[in-house]
Amino acid sequence: MSILEKFVTMDYGPAPEDPREAIAWLDKYHRRFGHFINGAFQSPLEAKYFDTTDPSTTQKLADIAQGSAADIDAAVKSARAALPQWQSLTPHARARYLYALARQIQKHSRRLAVLETLDNGKPIRESRDIDIPLVARHFYHHAGWAQLLPQEFPNHEACGVVGQIIPWNFPLLMLAWKIAPALATGNTVVLKPAEFTPLTALAFAEICQEIELPAGVVNIVTGDGSTGEALVAHPDVDKIAFTGSTEVGRAIRKATASSHKKLSLELGGKSPFIIFEDADLDSAVEGLVDGIWFNQGQVCCAGSRLLMQESIAEPLIAKICDRMNTLRVGPPLDKSIDIGAIIARVQLDRIQRLVDQGVAEGATCWQPSIPMPSRGLYFPPTLLSNVHPTSIVAQQEIFGPVLAAMTFRTPSEAVELANNTVYGLAACVWSESINVSLHVASQIKAGVVWVNCTNLFDASCGFGGYRESGFGREGGRDGLQEYLEPTWFKHAPQLHPRPLAIDQPPQQIPESAADSSTPPIDRTVKLFINGKQARPDSGYSIPVHAPDGRLLGEAPAGNRKDIRNAVEAARKATAWPKSTAHTRAQVLYYLAENLSQRRDEIAQRLSDIVGKNQARDEVSLSIERIFTYAAWADKYEGTIHNPPFRSVTLAMQEPIGTLGILCPPEAPLLGFISTVMPAIAVGNTVIAVPSELYPLIMADLYQLFETSDLPAGTVNIVTGRPSELLKTLAEHDDVDALWCFGDATTCATAKSLSIGNLKQTFTNEGRHIDWFNPHQAEGRFYLQHATQIKNIWVPYGE
Ligand code: NAI
Repeated sequence: MSILEKFVTMDYGPAPEDPREAIAWLDKYHRRFGHFINGAFQSPLEAKYFDTTDPSTTQKLADIAQGSAADIDAAVKSARAALPQWQSLTPHARARYLYALARQIQKHSRRLAVLETLDNGKPIRESRDIDIPLVARHFYHHAGWAQLLPQEFPNHEACGVVGQIIPWNFPLLMLAWKIAPALATGNTVVLKPAEFTPLTALAFAEICQEIELPAGVVNIVTGDGSTGEALVAHPDVDKIAFTGSTEVGRAIRKATASSHKKLSLELGGKSPFIIFEDADLDSAVEGLVDGIWFNQGQVCCAGSRLLMQESIAEPLIAKICDRMNTLRVGPPLDKSIDIGAIIARVQLDRIQRLVDQGVAEGATCWQPSIPMPSRGLYFPPTLLSNVHPTSIVAQQEIFGPVLAAMTFRTPSEAVELANNTVYGLAACVWSESINVSLHVASQIKAGVVWVNCTNLFDASCGFGGYRESGFGREGGRDGLQEYLEPTWFKHAPQLHPRPLAIDQPPQQIPESAADSSTPPIDRTVKLFINGKQARPDSGYSIPVHAPDGRLLGEAPAGNRKDIRNAVEAARKATAWPKSTAHTRAQVLYYLAENLSQRRDEIAQRLSDIVGKNQARDEVSLSIERIFTYAAWADKYEGTIHNPPFRSVTLAMQEPIGTLGILCPPEAPLLGFISTVMPAIAVGNTVIAVPSELYPLIMADLYQLFETSDLPAGTVNIVTGRPSELLKTLAEHDDVDALWCFGDATTCATAKSLSIGNLKQTFTNEGRHIDWFNPHQAEGRFYLQHATQIKNIWVPYGE
């Protein structure tokens, strides 16, 4: 063939990567691996093994130990035993270990890349050029955080022993995302890799030995879901970090609800890939190749829903089909392959089943006529067009190389479609107009938005979801927070519930109530919904007594319907989240001013229940606390990251949405203010259930709200039986986050009932918070829980 002929055909010759070194590494272990516990490989206690295979050939690669509860227990004990020594090291010493891990990963980068491709089926081009370099970058970046920890996170402590469970789509990269921040913050780790892809985790275990990481700091127990379950259930684990399916994430939320385990979940997605008519279409199509065909589409943030502006749909589809015709599917060790093998038969069948369902629901399926390998587990790149927004292929994560295409007309329709799933992991926006792109990006409910780019990741930028894509961030400063706790909070004693007034013997009369000339206060207290006082649906009231048994008044007995009305009002109150931070600050200052004017009468009423001193302190500290959050309202800002690409990443602090708050019982006014104010300061709307000790406080509160320019629906207050109201709030799918302050049982109930839409929960874990101590009761700790971070990637340059 002449050069000219070659130039015309431009056919690829085979370019196979040599797997011999990786195979030799497997042979060194006789292709049989135990768990890595206390610095050494150990046989599984139940002597059970399973196969790990190469999905491109379906051939067995090695025997892998199936972890039992006993193995998990041994690993947790090893991690616990290693904790004191690991924490007694200087930050600099820990930084050196992380640095050594990064160096050692680089030294063995090619072997790791080949092993990853063998075990996972992903193209070597991706494991070599994306996965492994990002793994090294993650350890380097976190070596830096280990060094800076005491300066940057004073008064914080590591969680302790951390259980980490990772999926099979980015095996070593997910390990790095989990282990690097955990070690940098002084935790020790038990990690369970996915059953389909354990090999690179075991190679990492060897690297831990090579750099002489102290024994027990990293433990790796292999196995299937039951091994993961045992890790989640282990009582001596302080935190669980999970990446995987939303279904398992939900099970883990439930399983950890009654424990103090801190939890971060990175779950599935159905990310929109939005292309406007003014986009650079050729670049957008290349972006799409990375968005949905990267790693065979087995990517949690895959751009699996293509939303095209109607005017360009036809030419765009033509371009996409042209490009799909040039994609090469085949042996992943070939360096010029674009699409490798699907992880397992079960996953392949699942993809086919979902595509068939999509077609049955009206979608048109198109696949290019390209050569497909005759053996191994492969699925062709697939385009589903004419997809209805409610079709299963537009709603469910397919986790395969399948793109579902739809059209839109206007930017607002694009936003509506983009947000029309239960997920919120990522999104792409393609438009040459920076105004349109950022306007759309700001309205999309997703933790990551790529503007004119796709699937970019960096150790300095947080990654994680909104809504049912999970909570918590991985990467950068935000990711570190997941592995730390404020020292005071970690060591706070358990809350001993103060007996309700009604339970107290009459002789315990507080100072003010001893004045028998004070008549009982008889005011008609109502619920406060959508800016108006409202009678409860039930038509019942609950008597509220002073400690001496006097009837102080009656609080409305709100029920499920009242909560639903309050949620609807809070959802519709869009003026507040859209208002500027300056406006929110002004309204809060005005609230403080109004409270200050009525301080004496409110303190007088409150003293009937908590005594004169506490009442006085609650009122004056409440005024101060409102000032604090008025101050924060326009100062709790995001940051700009500088990842090592031509891009800036805008980490925006966004309100979570609609929050349900079960206020602390022990300080009726101050507890309400300390929890509701941070929530609204950053733009959330709230349904608050005031302290059951003295729900009548709501009458004073809503009078303040009515006179302080707070838009209707921003704060709604419902009194009633807290356990009933808690259940309705926790199970309501339009409540985005639930804050609950009370005893350990109430906190556990809040967490376990919140699994429906996987709402974020923030509780005191049954611990005592001193609401009178600003160090504990105000500031960033609360604001962090009131916000979620959206990272918007904006590239620059030609
Ligand atoms: P999975 O969620 O079952 O597995 C992820 C990890 O969790 C694995 O290490 C597994 O052993 C472990 N695990 C499973 N059940 C567990 C339990 N009850 N308790 C603790 N750990 C448990 O995901 P799977 O079955 O591998 O894939 C199913 C679907 O999940 C995929 O088709 C995809 O849609 C989605 N998925 C999403 C991922 C993401 O990154 N968002 C990653 C992997 C899967």
